[in-house]
Amino acid sequence: MQDLDSFLHGLLAESGDTPDRLLQHLIAVQKQYSHIPYDAIQVLSERLGIPPVQIYSVIEYYAFLHRNPRGKYDIRFSDNITDRMLGNRLLMQGMCKKLAVEPGIPRDDGKVTIEMTSCTGLCDQGPALLVNGIAVSKLTEMRIHKMVGLIEAGVPVGKWPGKFFIVEDNIQRRDMLLNKRLIKGSALESLLVKGADAILNDLDESGLRGRGGAGFKAGTKWRLCRDAAADEHYVVCNADEGEPGTFKDRVLLNSYADSVFEGMTLCGGIVGARKGFLYLRGEYLYLLKTLENTLQERRDANLLGNNILGQEGFDFDIEIHLGAGAYVCGEESALIESLEGKRGIPRKRPPFPVTSGYMQKPTVVNNVETLLAAARIAVYGGDWFRSAGTPESTGTKLFSISGDCERPGVYEYPFGVTIRQVLEDCGALDTQAVQLSGAAGFTIPPQEFYRQIAFEDVPSGGSLMVFNRQRDLLKMVLNFTRFFCHESCGFCTPCRIGGRLMNDLVEKVMVGYATSYDIHELKKIGRVLQKSAHCGLGTTAPNAVLDTLQKFPGTYSRRLVNKSYEPAFNLDKALEVSRQLTGRDDEEAHLRLGN
Ligand SMILES: Cc1cc2nc3c(=O)[nH]c(=O)nc-3n(C[C@H](O)[C@H](O)[C@H](O)COP(=O)(O)O)c2cc1C
Ligand code: SF4
Repeated sequence: MQDLDSFLHGLLAESGDTPDRLLQHLIAVQKQYSHIPYDAIQVLSERLGIPPVQIYSVIEYYAFLHRNPRGKYDIRFSDNITDRMLGNRLLMQGMCKKLAVEPGIPRDDGKVTIEMTSCTGLCDQGPALLVNGIAVSKLTEMRIHKMVGLIEAGVPVGKWPGKFFIVEDNIQRRDMLLNKRLIKGSALESLLVKGADAILNDLDESGLRGRGGAGFKAGTKWRLCRDAAADEHYVVCNADEGEPGTFKDRVLLNSYADSVFEGMTLCGGIVGARKGFLYLRGEYLYLLKTLENTLQERRDANLLGNNILGQEGFDFDIEIHLGAGAYVCGEESALIESLEGKRGIPRKRPPFPVTSGYMQKPTVVNNVETLLAAARIAVYGGDWFRSAGTPESTGTKLFSISGDCERPGVYEYPFGVTIRQVLEDCGALDTQAVQLSGAAGFTIPPQEFYRQIAFEDVPSGGSLMVFNRQRDLLKMVLNFTRFFCHESCGFCTPCRIGGRLMNDLVEKVMVGYATSYDIHELKKIGRVLQKSAHCGLGTTAPNAVLDTLQKFPGTYSRRLVNKSYEPAFNLDKALEVSRQLTGRDDEEAHLRLGN
């Protein structure tokens, strides 16, 4: 292996030594040495001008960075609820046993580490894992058995059978976006012919709203950014896709990346940006090479770089930044912090990124799907897009469908489709509940399956997980509360403490020690989070608990030890030993419940 000094020397010479490079450099060091050695921290500190303690805090923050060596084969099983439903726990236990390794602890010979990680965005072809950052889907006992053999034989991951690493697009339904291919450069030609104002008008007419969840009008966002006076503007494509159960951006990046980059360049041309970033979640590392190739093809075709399509002054290029296992970095201001090389702590808003984003400059942050749709609207017009969907939710939306259904995958529907229709199409039978919009979303019972997916009714960022009647919904809730505890950045008290308290209470319900008082507490803490958490992670974290409490009360009540407001803890019984020791057992020494 290359010695650390020359590796860092090459890295800094090639990729720069400004402080914003920190996270990308740490990711590169982690990949090369399976951890961040002490000496690397000292060198980076000196060269980037960042105190070592700040570098430590960045390493601690990201789940994929480590100060202690990981195994040569670093394995992370995806732990979304859908992976659990497909048996990930048993597979991981089996692998740990076969390789004689404790979860989370490197084997003595340093060969292997195995642990769980949050959803890897492969719910339609789970259970899944990452090995040295690369996805392996459709795990079976046989596949695990083969992997164990390869690991023990020391076969490099690059020489493992190619079929292990196949990730299918799994597109089950196409509509106006996926059916219409975009000729490379046609949206940019449209911009040059029609002008920026006309394209902004097309976007306004189309009614396109952000596909990342919040649904802000894309045309308005671009215009606000363009009108914010500054010497630099930036465009960011949010490909963090960390919401459990969501994987539609994975498919767009795999098969429609050129359109996404076209959308970013179009945006750059309109707002006056010269630089764009694609923030790619670390779990999608396997897409990086293809994406880099697509960027190069676009540079070769004069669709990126200087004087794009011969237009003097139309300069724009795109750089890919990797995330390192932090869900909250999907929140746009946390993402910008991360792009600047720091911990992904969400900023105070306002100011919003459109006026003060990357490096405090006006920045458009858009979801992958939003940018893809914008490029098509520039070519086919606002009316074309508006012809589908509902008045407040125009066009189509991509959904990631997983869980108890026969045909999981990506489905494109016009907004306004009913949940019932989606369930019928994906072959979901005997459905008890649908979790819409991921862990942060809504739990929908069968009596609400008539509802429409649209901003006017049930909005959705695009994830739909199906649970049949055999499923215990509390397991889903517990999976989500654990997820939010793990992913909380810890900045604000309601989320850091409240999230943990909620998780503990759900665990208490699960093991059968809870009382009605605990349910009351769950609701109270949930409301505190909704009202006072600093960012969207905290305000949405209690959703599944509160929804299931309201719509599936039996899930909780049948497990309660006491349905009146009495403590679950039997103090009188706990004091028995003390009474014996002190020899006191008179009536006054006893506590009577219910008196
Ligand atoms: C905790 C959290 C995670 C988020 N994750 C994502 C994500 O992975 N992808 C995304 O596009 N938006 C995500 N968002 C929403 C972004 O903050 C932002 O609204 C979005 O990227 C804007 O793009 P759009 O207008 O095209 O939807 C997240 C928000 C929160 C609060
Ligand atoms: S709500 Fe949670 S994730 Fe958001 S800032 Fe507070 S602690 Fe961090």
